[in-house]
Amino acid sequence: IFKIIVGILAAYFLGSIPFGYLIGKYVYHKDIMQVGSGNIGTTNTFRVLGMFPGLIVFILDVLKGTVGGLLAYLIWSPLPDNRHYLILAAGVIAVLGHTFSVWLNFKGGKGVASSLGILLAYSPKLFVISLGIFLICLLLTSIVSISSLLNFFFSTIVFWYYDEKFLALVAAILMVYVTYLHRSNLVRMVHGKENTVKFGIPYWIRQ
Ligand code: G3P
Repeated sequence: IFKIIVGILAAYFLGSIPFGYLIGKYVYHKDIMQVGSGNIGTTNTFRVLGMFPGLIVFILDVLKGTVGGLLAYLIWSPLPDNRHYLILAAGVIAVLGHTFSVWLNFKGGKGVASSLGILLAYSPKLFVISLGIFLICLLLTSIVSISSLLNFFFSTIVFWYYDEKFLALVAAILMVYVTYLHRSNLVRMVHGKENTVKFGIPYWIRQ
């Protein structure tokens, strides 16, 4: 039981490190929670601080899910036969840390990059497929939030198809949670005011 508690705390605290906020505040002297969408994730970092910090935050946030998942090996080893379930459990706890950070008064990011990161620990092949789905959606919509939610939807179907039924279930639950975290984006979408990015077919057509 001690190991279980240590694992949960380690994954949570890892996930709760607000990289986007920290880089904004200490490197660029900007509070990204007060600018743009106010989110601490990759998209708002790109939007407010630029391409390079956006990429760094993306990698760090993805790694939260990945390292979070791998903590299962480190802390809960030797893992029983169902080790994959434990990787997903530890990864999901890291995502909860990211979205519900103790350092930000239990606010946080929207969990897209860190959820993707769990896949890298679980199955690099499915990580590449899921990232590919996201990029295709972004190419077709030029809107990150829609692409993130569509990615969860189509990835869940793909996991089911690959006979990863438990993974599909976890992805479906995360999809509901992540959709809830995107409620301000959904309101903007309904009013046709959601932020777009300078990438993808709708953007190129408008040019
Ligand atoms: O990863 C979050 C993304 O889906 C939306 O970000 O900043 O446009 O709310 P943002």
